[in-house]
Amino acid sequence: MTSADVGDFLENIAFQKLKKLLHERAGLDCSCYRNDYLKRRFAVRLRATGTNTYSRYVRYLKKNPAEYNLALNDLTINFTAFFRDRDVYLYLEKTLLPRLFKSPEVRMWSAGCATGEEPYSLAILVHKLLGEKLPAHKVKIFASDLDEEALAKAVKGEYNRKQLKDLENPLIDKYFSNNGTSYRVKDFVRRMVRFEKHDLMKPSLHKNLDLILCRNVMIFFSKESQQQIHMHFYNALREGGYLVTGKSEVLSGEPSKRFLCADVNCRVYQKPRADADCKSSSGLGVEKTDQLNLNNPAGGQWIVAQ
Ligand SMILES: C[S@@+](CC[C@H](N)C(=O)[O-])C[C@H]1O[C@@H](n2cnc3c(N)ncnc32)[C@H](O)[C@@H]1O
Repeated sequence: MTSADVGDFLENIAFQKLKKLLHERAGLDCSCYRNDYLKRRFAVRLRATGTNTYSRYVRYLKKNPAEYNLALNDLTINFTAFFRDRDVYLYLEKTLLPRLFKSPEVRMWSAGCATGEEPYSLAILVHKLLGEKLPAHKVKIFASDLDEEALAKAVKGEYNRKQLKDLENPLIDKYFSNNGTSYRVKDFVRRMVRFEKHDLMKPSLHKNLDLILCRNVMIFFSKESQQQIHMHFYNALREGGYLVTGKSEVLSGEPSKRFLCADVNCRVYQKPRADADCKSSSGLGVEKTDQLNLNNPAGGQWIVAQ
């Protein structure tokens, strides 16, 4: 064994030790994340602390417990934006929400909501759609994340002008109050959203959901963990309910066999109804337009990871 081999071997042990420490001390089970993703994110902390090797970083962590939070923040990067991916929100506004709101009660969940832009965008769309009819509906928008700091910002609902750059002025005037330096989501929108801390590796906190948005979150997870999370979503949805994933994400394994695809471009999936023709009195089943798009033997089109 060369000294380089020994170095690699020790670094590998320190890498495993680091994952164990983060699990034991910070409660983050790193085994659900992809190793290449973990290594890319840890590299940022190794550089920032000047430790440069996993062995030295493990020693640094033990001496500086505040570093746990910084490592955690770095692992759960929470970039997000209002109405991120316009076409997806257009699909929600013009197709999905009108379909869902044929029912008087609609339950939605933004899973991995980061600093709140996604659930607030959804709440704004619901308000735009229902207007004065809103009080006649029971609307629940749950929003969750693992990152407490991000959640605290989400609950506050305060953003700077740059974060609203993609929003048109009339929309900003209607849904945000400007205090001179920042913009706060107005109370009637904030009241529609309930934020909570939740680890996606655990079963959902809610059942009978009509719509789950879980977008740009799966990139962090190993394929097995992605499948586990998608099955949690499957179990949390009512029959006929929808799952919207990120545009670069695909279902694989068991979830890819369970869900129908309602829109390929916007990555919208549907939990099929038990009755084969997917019709219901509430009209929330697979619509005719969807069925025209579908082409697998069971009447659906799968998007399956290679
Ligand atoms: C890139 S943001 C996506 C935000 C939003 N969904 C969007 O598309 O704009 C990913 C979020 O997933 C969260 N996340 C990562 N691992 C998680 C886990 N195990 N449980 C819950 N949330 C997690 C991160 O904290 C982060 O806020």
